[in-house]
Amino acid sequence: MLTVDSIDCSYGPVQALMGLSLEATDGAFIAILGANGAGKSTTLKAIAGLVRPTRGRVLFRGRNLARLGPERRLSLGIALCPEGRRVFPDFTVAENLRVGGHRLNRRVLGDRVDQTLQLFPALKDRMGQSAGSLSGGEQQMLAIARALMTEPSLLLLDEPSLGLAPMITRQVFDAVDGIRKQGTTVVLVEQNRLALRYADYAYVLGNGRLRLEGPAGEVQDDERLRSAYLG
Ligand SMILES: Nc1ncnc2c1ncn2[C@@H]1O[C@H](COP(=O)(O)OP(=O)(O)OP(=O)(O)O)[C@@H](O)[C@H]1O
Ligand SMILES: [Mg+2]
Repeated sequence: MLTVDSIDCSYGPVQALMGLSLEATDGAFIAILGANGAGKSTTLKAIAGLVRPTRGRVLFRGRNLARLGPERRLSLGIALCPEGRRVFPDFTVAENLRVGGHRLNRRVLGDRVDQTLQLFPALKDRMGQSAGSLSGGEQQMLAIARALMTEPSLLLLDEPSLGLAPMITRQVFDAVDGIRKQGTTVVLVEQNRLALRYADYAYVLGNGRLRLEGPAGEVQDDERLRSAYLG
């Protein structure tokens, strides 16, 4: 479904990714791990069209995305839930969800909200509350729910566990697992190794390069995982 083929990405003189390749088959749950600055967010941005690779290609369902901007990619089914749970704090939960679904026509919008809330029952009771008044975990759930409103076939999640307590992290990952079970392909970027318990396959980045890849269970036990983190 998704193929990232030997991409390089730079920000001016800073080369953030070097020859990175990865793949996600339809319905897969992929984890990308790595320390701060490893290139995880850049990888998701390259897939979502927010950063243009200087070399290599990103293919989605066999199609080269090179010429397509983020809006086009979104309409093809690629949704990014960015780092730092950027919900609109002064909007209510319901309004945040409707913003996520602004491309849907009015008739299906309500149904999509109901469908999305099935995965996040905790949000159901808070529809009229401002997003800024939610707990960190609830805000993260809302950020993911908002991304789902576009009915993506590929969901890109950037460090949803950041700053959350372990129990809340588990709830967020369980919700992501539910999304995947509904058939959405998931690429989850994390520093938290708990992600490896949920993913089928994992890639470990270090300084913009792929350090290790394999079935998530094998990566979890691999000594090189630790050394990739330590740099
Ligand atoms: N907008 C930018 N301008 C310049 N350099 C950047 C920019 N964004 C990222 N970089 C650099 O690119 C490299 C990779 O950054 P990236 O954000 O992809 O890492 P990351 O793995 O997501 O890190 P973190 O875990 O801290 O979010 C880093 O060296 C970073 O400093
Ligand atoms: Mg990042």
